[in-house]
Amino acid sequence: MTENSLHGVKLASTSEEVGCRPDQPLLDSLLRNEIWIPNSCNQGTCGTCKVQVLRGQVDHRQSPLDTLNMAERDGGMALACQATPCSDVEIQPVGESVAGGLRHRLQDFLGTVTGLADIAEDTRRLLVSLEKPMEFSAGQYVEMTVPRTGAKRQYSMASAPSTPTELEFHIRRVPDGEATDGWIFTTLQEGDTIELSGPYGDFTYADVDGAPLILVGGGTGLAPLMSILRHALSLDPDREIHLYQGARTTADLYDFDKLRGYAETFANLHYVPALNMEDWDGRTGHVTDVMLEDFDSCKDYSGYLCGPPVMVEAGIKAFKRRRMAPRRIYREKYTPAAAAARPAGLAVAALA
Ligand code: FES
Repeated sequence: MTENSLHGVKLASTSEEVGCRPDQPLLDSLLRNEIWIPNSCNQGTCGTCKVQVLRGQVDHRQSPLDTLNMAERDGGMALACQATPCSDVEIQPVGESVAGGLRHRLQDFLGTVTGLADIAEDTRRLLVSLEKPMEFSAGQYVEMTVPRTGAKRQYSMASAPSTPTELEFHIRRVPDGEATDGWIFTTLQEGDTIELSGPYGDFTYADVDGAPLILVGGGTGLAPLMSILRHALSLDPDREIHLYQGARTTADLYDFDKLRGYAETFANLHYVPALNMEDWDGRTGHVTDVMLEDFDSCKDYSGYLCGPPVMVEAGIKAFKRRRMAPRRIYREKYTPAAAAARPAGLAVAALA
């Protein structure tokens, strides 16, 4: 067997089968053939992509023990985003995806930087024009390749799926971050070419019964919520949507005027920015507490949370306290890439 030979990867539930290189993760081969199985972080940290290997052998590669322990390995389980095939394999996903039937083909793209601007302290907006359209669902992310080092970093689209060649990203600087201090905040310029692949992730807009939405974002966790907001408003401009944007200080708050403008345009969009480390003439406190103050019941709402893990966990508790059905709660946790590389077991999308 050479590196270029292919093993077969068969999905037991559907009998669909794809070819997979010996150095290619199972998930990558499936997504590139439009076969969806549950997945989220693509880094081995969330466990969403666990599969039972029914036949054949896999190499677990960098699968963290915290995400896939020895007992699970001995029991024939594998992380599809990490494991590579050593033979033809037949697998069965363990989890159910909230995204269900997503069928966007994972592809590689080249893009040109058309905009790069500071929008808040240590935060940049990056605009990328793709050479070909990328079909994706609102809320999904791409992996960008850091030039020279080849490292991969994940960033959610803030743009809507209706502009499949013009992508927008919000990027928070991480001190000494390979992708930020080493590239996006230092050497990257308009006109540069970016290599990326996508789309990834199952944090996506699920229009459950036309339910009103509560979107809660912390820091650049606003990005996928902007994509969801734009998409939801394009489908139904009268949809009741409550957008909560959490930041530490006014220096961290971005797109304030733009979102206030949206709220003036769309009568049922309610925009609430909240700061937790500075007094100002707006709402103060942790963004999930601010949201809690506004609702006696979230029973008939769908909730979307994106930001630091502590904010997302607080948001899940807050929604449940207000009686939101668990199946209507969607969340994406952002962790710095350095932390995500450790077997944290919680990271869902990484920034650095
Ligand atoms: S998608 Fe594989 S562990 Fe998260």
